[in-house]
Amino acid sequence: ENESTVSITVVGASGDLAKKKIFPALFALYYEGCLPKHFTVYGYARSKMTDAELRNMVSKTLTCRIDKRENCGEKMEEFLKRCFYHSGQYDSEENFAQLDKKLKEHEGVVSDADLLSMIIFQSDVLVGYRGFRLFLSDALCTMLTYISDFIDELSLCQKSSTLSRGGKASNRLFYLSIPPNIFIDAVKCASSSASSGNGWTRVIVEKPFGRDSDSSAALTKALKQYLTEDQIFRIDHYLGKELVENLSVLRFSNLIFEPLWSRQYIRNVQLIFSEDFGTEGRGGYFDHYGIIRDIMQNHLLQILALFAMETPVSLDAEDIRNEKVKVLRSMRPLQLEDVVIGQYKSHSKGGVTYPAYTDDKTVPKDSLTPTFAAAALFIDNARWDGVPFLMKAGKALHNKRAEIRVQFRHVPGNLYNRNFGTDLDQATNELVIRVQPDEAIYLKINNKVPGLGMRLDCSNLNLHYAARYSKEIPDAYERLLLDAIEGERRLFIRSDELDAAWSLFTPVLAELEEKKIMPEYYPYGSRGPVGAHYLAARYNVRWGDLGLDQSA
Ligand code: BG6
Repeated sequence: ENESTVSITVVGASGDLAKKKIFPALFALYYEGCLPKHFTVYGYARSKMTDAELRNMVSKTLTCRIDKRENCGEKMEEFLKRCFYHSGQYDSEENFAQLDKKLKEHEGVVSDADLLSMIIFQSDVLVGYRGFRLFLSDALCTMLTYISDFIDELSLCQKSSTLSRGGKASNRLFYLSIPPNIFIDAVKCASSSASSGNGWTRVIVEKPFGRDSDSSAALTKALKQYLTEDQIFRIDHYLGKELVENLSVLRFSNLIFEPLWSRQYIRNVQLIFSEDFGTEGRGGYFDHYGIIRDIMQNHLLQILALFAMETPVSLDAEDIRNEKVKVLRSMRPLQLEDVVIGQYKSHSKGGVTYPAYTDDKTVPKDSLTPTFAAAALFIDNARWDGVPFLMKAGKALHNKRAEIRVQFRHVPGNLYNRNFGTDLDQATNELVIRVQPDEAIYLKINNKVPGLGMRLDCSNLNLHYAARYSKEIPDAYERLLLDAIEGERRLFIRSDELDAAWSLFTPVLAELEEKKIMPEYYPYGSRGPVGAHYLAARYNVRWGDLGLDQSA
């Protein structure tokens, strides 16, 4: 593999995601020495740009981790020298063929056309030489005959495949960071005109993978006309987040958690996502999808699957994905009465007026698209029967946070009940996995307040990442890009997983849209609509993120 080359083409190179995440992640991998020795990064987009302009654009997005400042500038220069640009249409085979030619030059591959002209030229020389061989010495004749045989072999190779100098594999990774309506065209052109002749070709695709079961199935079908499932890397960047990866480690490598991981001890599980900003600049995309498709059907559901799956046979990608599919298929499709939707409205605070969702110029004034949703989901299997899995996701809320909260049952016959005061709910254990920001895992336990009396309080056993680990945590995209280069599929979504995920949300999404269900309005920067509390209360649950936690 050391001798193989990898060309990484970022299709949609001038877009937001490419600038904010993909190029910086590639540089971070380069800095860490994780990229193969022979790699090239190509930006591909419609706009005209020179290599120098691309490098300039990319250079503005690169940063070094706090603990990796050494040689940072030098490393950036080296990295930028490996970055190139090709301007082309997303549906033009010709433009992708031009890219292919450039990639081959970097890969050290002799292109078909070049090879052919070389053979023709050499053959002419040989024809000439054969005519004059009577005048040449025997030794020279033998040498030239060898060359002649070699060229014959070359032309045979030429017929069967593209030849690379020294026989090294030229691998190609395409990152499609483009809107869904041009996915298929780009995949078609990349696979027919720019896939590798003698190595692997892989394509990373970003969500949205359709809007419902049917459109997702159609997308999968179309992709599979040009790619095999093995070549498709469907990204869900939440799977690349450190604490999401750690979920399985926590569960399966600690004796103390797994035995408690069931309906017997767990009262409910909460998956919470909040952002303290609106859809700024993305209203056009967002209005077509809404928060349920944007966050719940993928990021939160993926976390749920990892949280609730049975122990996989091994850590192999297929074994893990088999378990995730199983748990998703054991779930009940979401019911309308188990969903609350909201939309943020304008709010003024401290002299600043924050916009309503519909103030976005790209959003229709009468849009009913939810920017907030809460939902109760259930897994109908032996382990989780009756345990509510509550999800909550919203934009323009009071904070930015993603966390998993596991609320355990009350202690039966608790000797200390009367020492808690009146609120017994506060006295149950809760495990919190804070995915971001300020990563942490903490367990709320009951403890005696030191002193002569017998008063209990709730305190945290706390694993605070910043205090425990001095290393800065890599961005999710770094892990995922590296996995795609290494062919590790564990953190990517398989097509049957995607189908199972859609079948849980498709009926309710259709119902919400058909019945034109009004979202509950909530002020920008608030905690979201009160309906979320009623939904939780129906299942005897109180959201754990009410700000009552002892600071962790
Ligand atoms: C994306 C959503 O998938 O995730 C965005 O489309 C959201 O709407 C983003 O803002 C959140 O990602 P992160 O990593 O910033 O939590």
